[in-house]
Amino acid sequence: MVEISTAKERVERLRAEINRHNYLYYVLNTPEISDAEYDRLMKELRELEEQYPELITPDSPTQRVGAAPLEAFGTVEHPVPLLSLANAFSQEELLAWHKRVTGLLEGKGFDLVCELKIDGLAVALTYENGLLIRGATRGDGFRGEDVTQNLRTVRSIPLSVPKNAPRKFEVRGEMFLPRSGFEKLNEERLKAGQSPFANPRNAAAGSVRQLDSRITAQRPLDIFIYALGYAEDGDIPTTHWETLEYLKSLGFKINPLNAHCTDLEQVEDYYKQWVESREELEYDADGVVVKVNPFEFQRRLGYVGREPRWAIAYKFPATQATTRLVDIGVNVGRTGSLNPFAILEPVNVGGVTVKMAALHNEDDIKRRDIRIGDTVMVQRAGEVIPQVIGPVLAKRTGKEKVFVMPTHCPVCGTQVVRPQGEVMARCPNVACPAQIYELLKHFVSRGALDIEGVGESLCEVLLKAGLVKDVADIYYMTKEDLLKLERMADKSADNVLAAIQDSKGRPLARVIFALGILHVGGEMAEILANHFQSMDRLSHATEEDLLAIPSIGPKIAQSIVTFFKEERTLKVIEKLKRAGVNMKAAPVAARGLPLADKQFVITGRLNAFSRQEAERKIKELGGSVGSSISKKTDYLILGEEPGSKLDKAKELGTPTLSEEEFLKLLEDAGS
Ligand code: IVH
Repeated sequence: MVEISTAKERVERLRAEINRHNYLYYVLNTPEISDAEYDRLMKELRELEEQYPELITPDSPTQRVGAAPLEAFGTVEHPVPLLSLANAFSQEELLAWHKRVTGLLEGKGFDLVCELKIDGLAVALTYENGLLIRGATRGDGFRGEDVTQNLRTVRSIPLSVPKNAPRKFEVRGEMFLPRSGFEKLNEERLKAGQSPFANPRNAAAGSVRQLDSRITAQRPLDIFIYALGYAEDGDIPTTHWETLEYLKSLGFKINPLNAHCTDLEQVEDYYKQWVESREELEYDADGVVVKVNPFEFQRRLGYVGREPRWAIAYKFPATQATTRLVDIGVNVGRTGSLNPFAILEPVNVGGVTVKMAALHNEDDIKRRDIRIGDTVMVQRAGEVIPQVIGPVLAKRTGKEKVFVMPTHCPVCGTQVVRPQGEVMARCPNVACPAQIYELLKHFVSRGALDIEGVGESLCEVLLKAGLVKDVADIYYMTKEDLLKLERMADKSADNVLAAIQDSKGRPLARVIFALGILHVGGEMAEILANHFQSMDRLSHATEEDLLAIPSIGPKIAQSIVTFFKEERTLKVIEKLKRAGVNMKAAPVAARGLPLADKQFVITGRLNAFSRQEAERKIKELGGSVGSSISKKTDYLILGEEPGSKLDKAKELGTPTLSEEEFLKLLEDAGS
């Protein structure tokens, strides 16, 4: 056991270091260490704190895990009320605001600050003697809820601030869930049979207002601080822009996209830029908040009711609209799932015409009581497919029809099944043309066998022409077969065949993933490949074998076993094997081998051996073979008549090897 005095020193060192890495990762987005290294530091700290509980402090990074659930939130009075903002919905309204402000300031010039108006929820954080002592929601602006325990779990909220901070102060900011976190959360909720959140803001609010802070701790909540509420005994800057800089220096997360503008023209440029690029943001923003910069001017301008005259929210065009739900269609997915979707009377949503939108599943349609013929609220956000949020009940006429899931597959007519505990109805016919089409698209896609040149439309053509009846048939097509297809020229046929040939050497994990086993995504395929090392062993695995792997639960295990029991599956695998598709993991001992960690790409025709042989040789020596040039490529091997890969290699400065040089390399490496 370590001496307590030594332990104390170490604990303090660890905390300082972890806090610094937290700050680099969560606030600045510039991590310096790997997750594993970070975990090691945390583990050491946790162990020391377990040994010496008296060393635990409330601002220790180990204390962000959440505490036992509350009965209800306490109420917090805001010493300085949290205000709202007036809106400008057009350029004219913005101009009118600016003119009014200029008039009130008697023509004195002033600079402005533009910030994105994040669509989340406002919170106030109070710090006293260097520590976070309270976190509260906005509530009605005068009184909010005490959500301290929850906010303590948010990594971008500092639990402590440097010594030079004011003795007591409050900062305000917007809590939000990044879109990726929102989508993941909704997927999980749907799987668990719960209603998805309508948008990231509701999800953020739901997460912040959780009585069980351990649940909040699992949500990737984030924050941007946009104001100092008040400060006691501190030397505070005299402008808003400098205040943001100051708060940043205290460790708070300030939106790097904020802009300091000298005039209204710059404000309009900022607005235009973000109206166009808002979809690229990682979070929802519904406008630009424009603020008069000098505090002295803010004071002079004052408030009208609860809205400051010195700021305005210049709103982006709406991304929600109402329209009629004409019908609910059903399409069949890769794994046979019957996915309902909304057919809408076309409506313009934030500049885009929307005719179709996602509906999640039958239960969700029922839960939200969405009926055919309803007027519904539709929302578009980010790059995702538009969503139906729900019906506008006030517009119901009584003529609307309740949706019923078809009892038979709309494509092949097979009776659908819905296993107990599953939220999706499925067509169990593995030979269903809709499933084969989706499966084929998946099979050739990037994360799977990555067959360049075989895109969605070619998949459709191949199926229609009867050339492909299952995914393995793709490896048995001849040039003559392809040339019979419409619009298939000699050169394109060669390219397609070369790409197909190329795909035979993909790693085992990709081949497993490509098979489209229910519940087996890219990561799971990787785990299975590492564990079983070959398709043969995986296909013989029992549920017990699979359950012994830590990340596999009964649902996945059952799905895998069922999949490999199917006669059809075995037939496809046999055909793939016969065609020469890789069915084994790369040698485990690759690390010690001469070409370990080296990635090669081949272009053009080799003389000494076929491409497949070349790939096998590289792999035997521990190297890997990629299908396209990237920064990770170590060498491009040049055969005769090299393709466009050579241009790409030149562009990236990737070293090239002639066939001769490559042969020499193999020889030196002992092949
Ligand atoms: S300033 C008096 N800045 O918008 C100034 N608000 O209707 C009040 N919001 O409840 C707030 N991003 O939750 C400000 N950069 C930003 C903001 C922002 C989002 C929200 C805030 C407030 C609402 C105002």
